[in-house]
Amino acid sequence: MVLRRAGWMGGCAALLSACAPRPLPPPSLPSAITDRAADFAKSVPHVAASGMRDASEQAFVDSVLARMTLPEKLGQLTQYAGQWGQTGPRVETATEDAIRRGEVGSFLSVWGADVTRRLQRIAVEESRLGIPILFSHDVIHGFRTLFPVPLAEAASWDPDVARESARIAAAEASAYGIAWTFAPMMDVARDARWGRVVEGAGEDPHLGSVMAAARVRGFQGTDLRAPLSIAATAKHFAAYGAAEGGRDYNIADIPERTLRETYLPPFRAAVCAGAATFMASFNEIGGVPAHASRALQTDVLRGEWGFNGMVVSDWGGLQELIPHGVAAGRADAARLGLRAGVDMDMVSEVYLKELPAEIAAGRVPMAEVDEAVRRVLRLKYRLGLFANPYARGDTSRELPAGRLPAEHRRAAYEAAARSVVLLRNAGGVLPLDRARIRRLAVIGPLAADRHSPLGSWNGAGRDEDVVPVLDGIRRAAGSGITVDYTAGVDSVRSTSGGGFAAAVRAARAADAVVLVVGETEDMTGEASSRVSLDLPGAQRELVEAVRAAAGRKPVAVVLMNGRPLALEWMHDTVPAIVEAWFGGVEMGNAVGDVLFGEVNPGGKLPMTFPRATGQVPIYYNYRQTGRPADPRNEYTTGYERSPSTPLYPFGHGLSYTRFTYGAPRLSAARMGAGDTLSVTVEVTNAGGRAGDEVVQLYVRDPVAAVTRPVKELRGFRRIRLNPGETRAVTFRLTVDDLAFWDAAPRRIAEPGAFVVQVGGSSEQVQSAEFELVTVDGGAIAVPERCGAA
Ligand code: NOJ
Repeated sequence: MVLRRAGWMGGCAALLSACAPRPLPPPSLPSAITDRAADFAKSVPHVAASGMRDASEQAFVDSVLARMTLPEKLGQLTQYAGQWGQTGPRVETATEDAIRRGEVGSFLSVWGADVTRRLQRIAVEESRLGIPILFSHDVIHGFRTLFPVPLAEAASWDPDVARESARIAAAEASAYGIAWTFAPMMDVARDARWGRVVEGAGEDPHLGSVMAAARVRGFQGTDLRAPLSIAATAKHFAAYGAAEGGRDYNIADIPERTLRETYLPPFRAAVCAGAATFMASFNEIGGVPAHASRALQTDVLRGEWGFNGMVVSDWGGLQELIPHGVAAGRADAARLGLRAGVDMDMVSEVYLKELPAEIAAGRVPMAEVDEAVRRVLRLKYRLGLFANPYARGDTSRELPAGRLPAEHRRAAYEAAARSVVLLRNAGGVLPLDRARIRRLAVIGPLAADRHSPLGSWNGAGRDEDVVPVLDGIRRAAGSGITVDYTAGVDSVRSTSGGGFAAAVRAARAADAVVLVVGETEDMTGEASSRVSLDLPGAQRELVEAVRAAAGRKPVAVVLMNGRPLALEWMHDTVPAIVEAWFGGVEMGNAVGDVLFGEVNPGGKLPMTFPRATGQVPIYYNYRQTGRPADPRNEYTTGYERSPSTPLYPFGHGLSYTRFTYGAPRLSAARMGAGDTLSVTVEVTNAGGRAGDEVVQLYVRDPVAAVTRPVKELRGFRRIRLNPGETRAVTFRLTVDDLAFWDAAPRRIAEPGAFVVQVGGSSEQVQSAEFELVTVDGGAIAVPERCGAA
């Protein structure tokens, strides 16, 4: 694939005002911290003397660059990993010497106020130029206070949840000296076998864009220099989520149209939101590994989109150009990476060790090295590290176990509660009725698990801080209900039915049963792809045995997991199913309140749940074949004797109340290319409880130059309605929402009929039609622009 630079499209550079980040309230900073920061700046003579606070960024960066030797420059392009010691992260003495030589640009996974300040002091006071170190870490969904995993937060369909959790994560991480996180991950993912679906926002580019932008704004705040802000990383650039077969690190064999239409939009949104850095992805696309792709890392990212931040490799990603088969050795790998536009080398050490000879031989221009160094220095400058290298490590703000601030816990609870998706509730089994229950059986290996709710990438989260589901249920049940707990199986992976008898006894003795089953946290995340989406171990048999023993009593399953699972059998067996994901430290309280009705669930699925593993990849915005699925005709797309439809579609999620929709009303039957079309729908809470609904807007272009998805999400709004209340929700469509990448590919919109579909899930929609008219009746170019997210 040859990615062309689409110069005619413009970019953020041409649309500065449209690209400006939306303002956030400034993070509050205790004045004691600001005072201390100023003292430190004064205490480091050459930092204070340089007056860099007032110097313009470019002039300052150039003045530092002008004084650097080649080893110092390459040092700035090098990131080292810390090691794990008895009491936390540490670095080798040899690495401390490298800091003194000015050869350490950045550390990853070195955190803690004491250790980062000590190393920073070596860099600032003992190295020749005193360039501060950039400490980084994977702060993915919380640092000390763990929030629901990103896939779960996407299920809230509430960007405020994502922004707030990122803001709190940044504030906490910064206390430990961290200035840069490798988040958000924004890889669109359509194959639930891939373990890293847990880290993203699911299968949809629009929802993914909104969530990505919200997280970037949460991490970075309005001022990157503020000690409670940290730099975000848009990762993994690009199409890592298209890993063939869902196998981690695998190739992405997708055409450029698909890349641009499906996988790039969240990255574009991240640039628009001001993301300070990007990370290259492990995969190749069409034969070109992302770490060696100048088309991606330079032409699209910087050329088309106007990104002027820094690009970091993924862990060892440069060295991996050798096994990929595009580099014969480490020198090739270094040259290819740098020339592609990857500025910082995470742990391969190929820039440091190989570039001197490449430069000397004239194979790598010094100007390109300088440009990469400039980007690293600029990031440090923007983070305020030159002005105050110690602003972020602060022992007084570190949080020992059991000491999570109440405000952070409240936010984690809100996020967990808003992320819950009620998948099924036949006969209104939920919420549980306290008046009818004296004994409640809680069964399942995950009910008392204090670790799995933390999810993968759990930062400095601690099991002691987690409210397990069992404890949350006990609290919500209250003193009038006796809760009996039994695990049923030893672990989620255990295939032994040894605990079934006790589980069956508990179910028989109880008035209602809650089963807590799913995956452990290590079953999703990096290197955790699964060959099957079935419930692991003997959990299915456990659920079936307990269900049979419970007879007509209320039975509900609570799922803890980080990916869609294949649960058709469960749907056919169990009346109530609650998807609670890996919900973070407050998961138990949120689940307890959902089960007993204190919280009315309002989340919706960000990824399609298949009926069977064999259906993946399965997603709502597929393109139609010449033989659309028709269960009455076997010569149509699909599987022999199995439905093609998902078990639970994208956007699905029930409530304890009932919402009804009026027909969508359009402000006009025709729209011109410069017009805005309003789509209004009235949503009514026709049930007896207050509740949240996510109103979703999809668009379809039924006839176009290239085949188009059957529908594409273009807007959504989460609203709260009291019983009997009706609200009119209005979405505004512009030609941007109708545009697509044609075969060239160029981004265009074609005149003709469009269908809008509005409803409470991708499959429960009502439609209306309108026509796009252009001046000469032909297609028009639609440059990408910032704005939607
Ligand atoms: C590899 C992962 O792919 C990436 O997401 C992560 O940020 C780095 N390791 C650093 O931990």
